[in-house]
Amino acid sequence: MPKNLRRALFITLEGPEGSGKSTQSRRLVDDLLSDGYDVLHTAEPGGTALGRRIRDMLLQKDDIRLDEQAELFLFEADRAQHVEEVIIPALETGKVVICDRFNTATFAYQGYGLGMDLGLIEKVDRVATGGLCPNLTILLDVDVETGLARAAAEHPADRMEKRSRDFHEKVRRGYLALAERSPDRIKVVKVGDDPDGTYGLVKEQVYGLIERYKGSE
Ligand code: TMP
Repeated sequence: MPKNLRRALFITLEGPEGSGKSTQSRRLVDDLLSDGYDVLHTAEPGGTALGRRIRDMLLQKDDIRLDEQAELFLFEADRAQHVEEVIIPALETGKVVICDRFNTATFAYQGYGLGMDLGLIEKVDRVATGGLCPNLTILLDVDVETGLARAAAEHPADRMEKRSRDFHEKVRRGYLALAERSPDRIKVVKVGDDPDGTYGLVKEQVYGLIERYKGSE
């Protein structure tokens, strides 16, 4: 029997490009599953059938000119569908939900990166999430040059990765500023040269939270 936590947990992983988020979250999901937890692993953008089309428009379609407001609304449309169709039903059945990127990415990329108004993002995002907030957000922090080089070695650059170095520096600084504003929820893990060492820190944060939750049940 899966160990369903009585209070479900919603954990997100964030970071600038090439932070190793997907690799770290896959390892985390494998460990949680082998420890008997009922886990849902999902991602934004693209966690639903609608979202996969939106993701394609946002990241791959170079022939579409995207206005900043349209970009924001597309990320939030993806999120609204994802929350409703995937995340909430999983949390309602007591799963541990691990999501690669969620709303902190919108504040970092569209807010700090593009310079869109954070108050406006907060309003739109609240509509999309219905106020759902992760219990824990792991911010994998990597310097921009290393991250972009790593991403470039893995796949052809998408629309976001093609943006300027300055944009990506703003995103990284934005993430760190957001972590300072929400130190209880957003935990910064510095990505080092050793992925095992980085993973150890991720696991420590997640299992620490699980233990605290169990303790309070
Ligand atoms: P990824 O799946 O490789 O993380 O790519 C998703 C890209 O979309 C990444 O460049 C971050 C960006 N993004 C935003 O700009 N805003 C958002 O709200 C989200 C979820 C992602």
